[in-house]
Amino acid sequence: MKNLKTIVLSNQEISPGYFRMKILAPGYSEASHPGQFVMFRVQRSLLPLLRRPFGIFRVGFMPADCDNMPAKEFIEIIYKVVGDGTGIMQGLHYGDPVELLGPLGTGFDCGVAAEEKILVGGGIGLVPLYSLAEKLVETSRVRLLMGGRTRDDIITVTEFERLGVETYVSTEDGSLGEAGLVTQVLERKLDQYPLATVFACGPMPMIEAVQEICLQHQVPLQVSLEGLMACGVGACLSCVVKGEGHTESDPRYLCTCTSGPVFAAEKLDWSKPEVKTINSGGCK
Ligand SMILES: Cc1cc2nc3c(=O)[nH]c(=O)nc-3n(C[C@H](O)[C@H](O)[C@H](O)COP(=O)(O)OP(=O)(O)OC[C@H]3O[C@@H](n4cnc5c(N)ncnc54)[C@H](O)[C@@H]3O)c2cc1C
Ligand code: FES
Repeated sequence: MKNLKTIVLSNQEISPGYFRMKILAPGYSEASHPGQFVMFRVQRSLLPLLRRPFGIFRVGFMPADCDNMPAKEFIEIIYKVVGDGTGIMQGLHYGDPVELLGPLGTGFDCGVAAEEKILVGGGIGLVPLYSLAEKLVETSRVRLLMGGRTRDDIITVTEFERLGVETYVSTEDGSLGEAGLVTQVLERKLDQYPLATVFACGPMPMIEAVQEICLQHQVPLQVSLEGLMACGVGACLSCVVKGEGHTESDPRYLCTCTSGPVFAAEKLDWSKPEVKTINSGGCK
């Protein structure tokens, strides 16, 4: 993990409210693992004071400009504009200075080769699943179940298809793919592929429903949590969740930023799984 002062290479709106940003990031292809994230800060801007966490969508190389020059290594993040920080980010352009702290956290365990893998992405939860899919397709059959409220929430599906991933889209309003919840598709797929391993990232109600379904089907599940984070390195405790065996008298909190964001489902306490969000003292 290191703090990298770097620049934006591109920043484009790919669907209403969703942006894809390419950032120069030497060293990330060696250092990062699927499911890890970065803490992102806009340089030369006082606000927002705190860095914002974003999953790493993809790591890649741009061709060198001239002979004998090294290729430029980059990461891509995809973000939804929801508030102050992402509001500023949408206005960034090529060459704007930014800071990345990362790669951070514990990523996915790719599991046993050759077993069926089912990825479940809700909205922006799709982001950390792409680099996971890149890895998994080397050894396993991979299916992506992608859900959103409307067609605008369904992003980058064709890129998963280009990897050889079989994709299934559902939207709550029926504007793209099957009408309904992504968890309904998961139930059907687990009936068809009862030995699959499931990997999920999305809003907490979706994650809770996925956990219930995987428990009923007795299949292994890893979840990536996207709660609030202030520091990203285990110092502020703004990101804690309750771990397995947690009780009032024997509290077992886990930091999402260091023990996660990816957890094997059995490591968490699902009786009250909501991500505890301690207000970080009014900092923005
Ligand atoms: C490990 C991790 C990975 C993430 N990866 C991505 C990603 O790839 N793409 C992406 O768009 N977002 C991702 N997020 C969420 C992202 O960090 C927040 O959306 C971002 O910090 C919001 O910053 P803001 O200043 O624009 O919003 P703020 O002004 O801080 O908040 C605006 C509103 O959004 C709510 N909000 C803020 N953060 C979250 C959150 N994490 N979950 C739900 N609601 C939130 C606030 O409560 C508030 O109502 C990730 C979060 C974590 C912890
Ligand atoms: S975000 Fe500070 S401890 Fe996890």
